Amino acid sequence: MTNPIRYHLAEDTIDEKDIKELISWLETSPRLTMGSMTKKFEAEWSKWLGRTYSVSNNSGSSANLLMYYALLESGRLRNKKVIVPSVGWVTTIAPAIQFGFEPIMCEADKETFALDTDYLEMLLKKHDPSVVVLVQVLGVPAKMDEILSLKERYGFILLEDACAAIGAKYRERNVGSFGDISSFSFYFGHQMSTIEGGMVSTDDKELNDLLLMLRSHGWSKDLDRETHSKLVAKYDIDDFHSPFVFYYPGFNLRTTDLNAKIGIGQIKKLNWILERREENHKRYLRNLEGRLQFQIPPEDSRVCSIHCGALAKDVDERKSIVESLGRHGVETRIFSAGNLGLHPFWISRYGIGSFPMADRIHHCGFFLPNHPSLKLEDVDYICNAVIEGLKKG
Ligand SMILES: Cc1ncc(COP(=O)(O)O)c(C=O)c1O
Repeated sequence: MTNPIRYHLAEDTIDEKDIKELISWLETSPRLTMGSMTKKFEAEWSKWLGRTYSVSNNSGSSANLLMYYALLESGRLRNKKVIVPSVGWVTTIAPAIQFGFEPIMCEADKETFALDTDYLEMLLKKHDPSVVVLVQVLGVPAKMDEILSLKERYGFILLEDACAAIGAKYRERNVGSFGDISSFSFYFGHQMSTIEGGMVSTDDKELNDLLLMLRSHGWSKDLDRETHSKLVAKYDIDDFHSPFVFYYPGFNLRTTDLNAKIGIGQIKKLNWILERREENHKRYLRNLEGRLQFQIPPEDSRVCSIHCGALAKDVDERKSIVESLGRHGVETRIFSAGNLGLHPFWISRYGIGSFPMADRIHHCGFFLPNHPSLKLEDVDYICNAVIEGLKKG
């Protein structure tokens, strides 16, 4: 029997106060399409994150699309081979397929569930790929020392998908500041939300310029004046034509100033959001450690989960926990997308991508609610529902 949902996996981080502020701002009849508010949001995001440039766009998936295509247009790739994670999201991999890369799937790490670095090194030796895509899984940082040391030795470009890991830290450094380009999602249920939204961040001016152009049709209007003028001079373009010259076959992945206004408000309360998520996550571990398998963060790191992910001992135990959660009105679901190598989009192209750890996450993983408005006593109630399921299993 499943009871009505009492505890949702996620709740909106845009609250009543944020909506009232938004209404007051809207009453001033501001510009709504992408403009100065978006620039302000990008600058504040870069400052918060600790990176030089950020390009706001309309989703984490669009952010991933931009990262791949900017690399392709950068002329920096020695081949089109890319290592992709087995645990992540479909749009972590989809652009590789859409842009004709050769994606090669990597096993998940037993502790962090991000890339297994031994498996990754084996793939690096065998394939010499240009690009590695790392997902920071659910706000638990990957083993960055090991990954950066492999980057140094094998010379690949690192794309860091931090879409579900905002606020997690590895040795005092924000996750999402390690990749040559990094992506973030601001969709409902993520650490913070702009309704829909995404961001790409980098310290590389050339890549930033490409990202800016590709976001909006391939034109140069969003570049700084000097870079725009250089392009205009290079192609000998007159003033009348110059705003509508397309240097790349771009997209329209723009966001709006309305989303940016919300985003600025979210950054203001981000510390509180992150603390509450961390506190709830720790409470889950305190109550359930030893009964379930959880991601183990590297030393000196900060976990900031969007949901608390856990693994049961086997499929039957997961079934029993899921049933108990249902009886107690607690929403649950599979762990992210499980193993992406077991999804039809992958199997139909490359055959089954089966790896022991990623398969275990697929078959035994599930999510427990975490959001800033979830109280510690709510976490205790949810844990009791899990324990009841464990006893019955
Ligand atoms: C790791 C990862 N990458 C990308 C995305 C896509 O983000 P969006 O829903 O904003 O498109 C998600 C969504 O949950 C994700 O978990």
